[in-house]
Amino acid sequence: MKRVTIGDLQAMRNEGTPIAMVTAYDHPTARLADESGVPILLVGDTLGMVVLGYDSTLPVTVDDMIHHGRAVVRGAKRAHVVVDMPFGSYQTGWQDAMRNATRIMQETGCGSVKLEGGIRSAETVRRLVEAGIPVMGHVGLTPQSVNQFSGFKLQGRTPREAVSVIADAKALEEAGAYAIVLETVPTALAHMITQRVHVPTIGIGAGPFCSGQVQVWHDMLGLFEDFKPKHARRFAEVGQVIRDALTEYRTAVEAGTFPTAKESFYMDERALKLIERMAPPLPAESEAQDADDILDDAREVLEQSRRAQGSNAE
Ligand code: KIV
Repeated sequence: MKRVTIGDLQAMRNEGTPIAMVTAYDHPTARLADESGVPILLVGDTLGMVVLGYDSTLPVTVDDMIHHGRAVVRGAKRAHVVVDMPFGSYQTGWQDAMRNATRIMQETGCGSVKLEGGIRSAETVRRLVEAGIPVMGHVGLTPQSVNQFSGFKLQGRTPREAVSVIADAKALEEAGAYAIVLETVPTALAHMITQRVHVPTIGIGAGPFCSGQVQVWHDMLGLFEDFKPKHARRFAEVGQVIRDALTEYRTAVEAGTFPTAKESFYMDERALKLIERMAPPLPAESEAQDADDILDDAREVLEQSRRAQGSNAE
């Protein structure tokens, strides 16, 4: 199966085909996303918040991204996989960025990397692209700067801020970024940027006029219940489905209705008798009754299994 390339994503943008992107952090979720036909998976550093339990993306390391990125690449056969460069892996200069991006590409097998920042990251983007590493940019609310922004807040609201977000997006395009994430900016601003750059814009909290949309897996499936960002839509309540299933499991174990004969393995009666003879002596008097009960239970289960096998054969 041919994997989606950055050229395919550009073609989708040029044809006006909206691009759906979703985050993925492990093998089973990558498989599910891939099977649903989503063309691009982001191993986002939201990993830190929705999977690792931190309260921001800042503690996430390059090793964390590589560990999860590899699992996603193994799970996705068709989707393009882009891996986030975490906080501190590129802000210290393009040489560090080159070293870390190279590691991420080599050790995960992903198709591109993503990093945050416009004008301030443009030189780094240019160097990486020149070295053959495709880069997705990210402007507007860039979560690695949450402390600078004093929280996860709408960006580009005032004319001055809006002009600076446009300049950031243009700088990334000029540096060679193949796509740009626009996060938590007014719809009209995202629309203006989308009309002014020639690469796909991927919005999250940026309204419907971007070339594509990205959602965080746990937000859209109801798996992250601490809060629901305004831009997230719950397409399913998987958290509740899992909670119900686990409650049912616990209740079945406590009631002794799991496992049944069908879910267990048996030996034949002759072997059981031999084992009884060869087994070490039964424990002391008080425990002997328990042991007898266990053997009785084993016989009962054996009988059930015989009956189950008999009904299967019928
Ligand atoms: O890390 C992430 O999941 C992201 C998306 C919010 C775009 O960067």
